[in-house]
Amino acid sequence: MSDDFVKRFGPWAVVTGASSGIGAEFARELAVRGLDVVISARRADRLEQLADDLRRAHSVRVEVVPLDLERPDFIEPLLRACADKDVGLVVSNAGFGLKGEHHVLDGARLTAMLNVNSHAPMLLAHAFAPRLIARGRGGILFTGSIEGFIGFPWSAAYAATKAFVMTLGEALWAELRAHGVDVMVLAPGATDTDAPTLQGIDKHQLAGLMPPAEVACQALDRLGGPPVFVPGWLNRAMVRFLTTVPRRLGVLAAGKGMRDALRRSGGSMEPVEGSPSGSSPFES
Ligand SMILES: NC(=O)c1ccc[n+]([C@@H]2O[C@H](COP(=O)([O-])OP(=O)(O)OC[C@H]3O[C@@H](n4cnc5c(N)ncnc54)[C@H](OP(=O)(O)O)[C@@H]3O)[C@@H](O)[C@H]2O)c1
Repeated sequence: MSDDFVKRFGPWAVVTGASSGIGAEFARELAVRGLDVVISARRADRLEQLADDLRRAHSVRVEVVPLDLERPDFIEPLLRACADKDVGLVVSNAGFGLKGEHHVLDGARLTAMLNVNSHAPMLLAHAFAPRLIARGRGGILFTGSIEGFIGFPWSAAYAATKAFVMTLGEALWAELRAHGVDVMVLAPGATDTDAPTLQGIDKHQLAGLMPPAEVACQALDRLGGPPVFVPGWLNRAMVRFLTTVPRRLGVLAAGKGMRDALRRSGGSMEPVEGSPSGSSPFES
């Protein structure tokens, strides 16, 4: 399995948002499978620590590329760092969330979230797809969210950024398969990372909280399958419910869950920012 995985997606993978949570586990699991990894995020110290661990434990090559994906020109330094590498897999994972009433949230932070969660994945796919097509094999894995399936009141813009990722990834799944390139959108629910706390949600109240290593591992196992993967049976059940009841009821149910989770966590309905990342009661 590992040999096949390396042949298809190696020798190098790029992982964004690798300084913590699901992204760090993606990097770790890829190293376990024998891939060399380019790891990126803003917190360089955490990336260096992870790089040391991976080199020591798995004898793989690791390159650290500190990047702020809020910057519209982030792609240039990343492409420079990858110029001499045969990149077979791009894991576009970085993201963060903003919770609260949309009209009260800070406009500049909303723009930053749009850049990190939607603009960056779009440009990553645009920049790396030609290289993957030329190889005739490889993959792009986007981290979306179960919030991408339907409008989530009190998380309206975050959910919209994840809907963008879902639509983009699904379409690219169909476009790139003819070139031997596997695309998948991972749509996690509540995952045990810093993200829920950063957004004012007490993660211990969230149902079905999954370990990030399990989420990353399951996603990599399913690369090459259907365009969207939701880890965890409870998350799949929630998505099924929200998307099969009449749309209006689905949106109202999502909103009730979000509001209750914020209130149960002791928060008001004041805006909460989590940088990095985002969760909700239905990532819950
Ligand atoms: N945890 C959940 O319940 C959950 C549920 C559904 C979806 N997700 C999605 O899963 C992905 C990973 O989140 P996580 O849960 O693992 O949370 P996390 O531990 O907070 O990780 C978020 C990662 O994104 C990076 N990031 C944030 N802003 C960035 C920026 N401006 N430039 C570059 N990197 C940036 C962070 O690195 P730096 O801060 O070092 O830059 C960090 O490595 C996100 O896309 C998130 O939306 C999470």
